[in-house]
Amino acid sequence: MKTSFNIVLVGGGSTWTPGLLKALCKLKNRLPLNKLVMFDVDTQRQAVIGEYAKVLFREEYPALEFIYTGDENIAFSEVDFVFCQMRTGGYAMREQDEKIPLRLGVIGQETCGAGGFAYGMRSIGDMIALVEKVRSRSPQAWILNYTNPAAIVADALNKRFPQDKRILNICDQPVNLLRSYGRLLQRDPATFDPVYFGLNHFGWFTHLYDQNGHDLVPELKAWIAENGFKPADAEQRDASWLETYAAVADMLRDFPDYLPNTYLQYYLYPQYKFSKLDPNYTRANEVMNGREKRVFDECRTAAAEGTTRNVQVVHNDAHGDMIVELAESIAFNLKKKFIVMVPNHGLVENLDDDVMVELAAEVGCNGPRPFGVGKIPVFYKGLIEQQFAYERLTVEAWFEGSYTKALQALTLNRTIVDAKKARQVLDALIEANKDYWPALH
Ligand code: NAD
Ligand code: G6P
Ligand code: MN
Repeated sequence: MKTSFNIVLVGGGSTWTPGLLKALCKLKNRLPLNKLVMFDVDTQRQAVIGEYAKVLFREEYPALEFIYTGDENIAFSEVDFVFCQMRTGGYAMREQDEKIPLRLGVIGQETCGAGGFAYGMRSIGDMIALVEKVRSRSPQAWILNYTNPAAIVADALNKRFPQDKRILNICDQPVNLLRSYGRLLQRDPATFDPVYFGLNHFGWFTHLYDQNGHDLVPELKAWIAENGFKPADAEQRDASWLETYAAVADMLRDFPDYLPNTYLQYYLYPQYKFSKLDPNYTRANEVMNGREKRVFDECRTAAAEGTTRNVQVVHNDAHGDMIVELAESIAFNLKKKFIVMVPNHGLVENLDDDVMVELAAEVGCNGPRPFGVGKIPVFYKGLIEQQFAYERLTVEAWFEGSYTKALQALTLNRTIVDAKKARQVLDALIEANKDYWPALH
């Protein structure tokens, strides 16, 4: 068994990169590295984070060989793990994804509804190209992917690379929720043993066991009903995220069975959420003026001062910790539990085999071994099947260049529903995405 590893981080210029680099430093004794390469197609953007990284590693990880590059040959050879977080079209296109639907009267959100559809149609091509580039040089590398919309990316990669067992699509929101439960119960979330089912950004915790096998879900529901719900890192969150977490209490009031993923608010309350979103100032603007600006300013400061001592950079460390701990569990066959995306194959008994579900799984050197949840009740089955049909039709629309399937996808999405509205939104998104999407006919 190998004892030290080479990682390439794709999307080195991501706002999440400094946090991930800090997680690599924090866990360097658990996942020892020989070499880290940051790769990005926007080399200027990446250079700001790359210069910060040099300072950080000089202080915290001097033995690490580190480079940043835009050269695929350098990046993808002799790699053990690819950590991927790319955003095709950048925040400029995220802004369009959010504003175009809102101007036409439906939810505009990065991963949900019409915005997620538009983003998915951009991400699929670049993610397929990335996997091909990696596989031509490092056939055995593990590809751990955060790129959104992860549900659509996961289904597309599974369709294009059905035999490839070393691609794992992940999301940090279940971990964010676990940490939030930990904070409100004043317990260590590392001790939680969750049962979860659904699709990415579309799932529920049914149970949360403590070390003694005691289910904490009833206590959590009662606590949230009484006091509301906040993220673990509430002090660092923008107002829109605090509202999002607060919506969990509303969802629990209406549907008290399970603890919902925060993203379900867009599907369960599309009209209410629409009324709360501002088409002239969306989450993309909030991120560009907030996280993006802060991260890049702080990286520039650290590089100029030659020390990271005076910058905070990382606010929420769940994102970085999750991917590094996942790689560690694969590298050393630890079989720790993570919530990940996998093809269903009977795990949710009354869903089709090829649905890309999100479930808890033990993850070791052969990848995820997911835990089945039996049959799910008809309300959840209905919601999931409708949402997955939307995701699958999006993927098929991309592969086939099919306008009809794109229209079917958007019509099925609970944030849209009306086919005439779906056509209006689709036509506007086609126009805005002509540099990115395949032609639809
Ligand atoms: P960002 O725009 O700051 O960073 C993305 C980086 O990817 C940019 O530097 C960009 O130049 C680069 N890039 C674009 N296309 C590329 C390509 N083809 N190859 C290599 N690099 C490319 O965005 P961000 O907000 O930091 O998010 C990064 C990604 O991580 C997004 O896809 C986001 O949705 C995702 N994300 C997912 C989760 C999750 O739960 N799955 C959590 C956080 C972020
Ligand atoms: C959560 C989700 C991610 C999303 C992230 C950031 O962690 O799981 O999929 O990318 O939030 O969203 P933001 O709106 O802050 O960029
Ligand atoms: Mn996510």
